[in-house]
Amino acid sequence: MTAEQSDPTRDGDATAEPGNGITRKKLLKAAMVAAPAPFLVGALPALAGDRTPSGQSLDPTPFCDDGDDPTPPQMEGPYFKPNSPQRTTMLDGNGTRLVLTGTVYGLACRPIANALLDFWQADANGVYDNTTYRFRGHQYTNAQGAFTLTTIVPGLYPGRTRHIHVKVQAPGRPILTTQLYFPGEPRNATDSLYNPVLLMSVQTTPTERRATFDFVLNVNQTPGPTPTATGTTPPPSGTWRAGVVYAVGAQVSYGNLNYRCQIAHTSQVGWEPPNAPALWQQI
Ligand SMILES: [Fe+2]
Repeated sequence: MTAEQSDPTRDGDATAEPGNGITRKKLLKAAMVAAPAPFLVGALPALAGDRTPSGQSLDPTPFCDDGDDPTPPQMEGPYFKPNSPQRTTMLDGNGTRLVLTGTVYGLACRPIANALLDFWQADANGVYDNTTYRFRGHQYTNAQGAFTLTTIVPGLYPGRTRHIHVKVQAPGRPILTTQLYFPGEPRNATDSLYNPVLLMSVQTTPTERRATFDFVLNVNQTPGPTPTATGTTPPPSGTWRAGVVYAVGAQVSYGNLNYRCQIAHTSQVGWEPPNAPALWQQI
């Protein structure tokens, strides 16, 4: 039994989602893939929004999710390490190149901009670097809620199937800790943590593997534009403010508390020091 499987903090209920992973989301996607072109052509206007006889615009049919199946959590495991570097590429050693792309959504299927994703994984030999930050990195989704991670296919280690760890957080919201899995892995059948809902879609090319996975966070969303950083009015001197490039070690005050910067970054609304312990350590 590995350390991850024996971790007393493991939440079995969170990982043992019953069923075969078929959700309305997947059925919709399957229908879109399987449908002949005329069906898709006919369906597109409805998906893109339609009008009632009175001319009132209808909301688009939710595609990413029907509100009841946010991405399930999984245990963190023993190898998470805070304060990873901000980067989208972590080609830190030999291995098959892997490009993972996706979008972070909320429950209303609207993308979440500036969501924080923190990835960590084993190297090609199945070893985690717990000394430095090889194969560890965090990034933010862009204005369309999209992210891209360029890394390698992680190696296997005893007791687990192939996987990538990730923490995903909408600004100011709770952290989703989970793991992503690879299709066609023999050990998927024997790893008790494996959950098919967390399978990436993976395409193999002569030079690399291309994976996709969309996260759905348990974040309620109301109609309207996705909140964006607007709080640019500088508060009193010496306090944290948005839009500033902070270096490691920089000290700020926020809400009568003092913080030290842990990771060099450009500050954003929603990632104020109390909301971002990965970025700011209270002192
Ligand atoms: Fe792991």
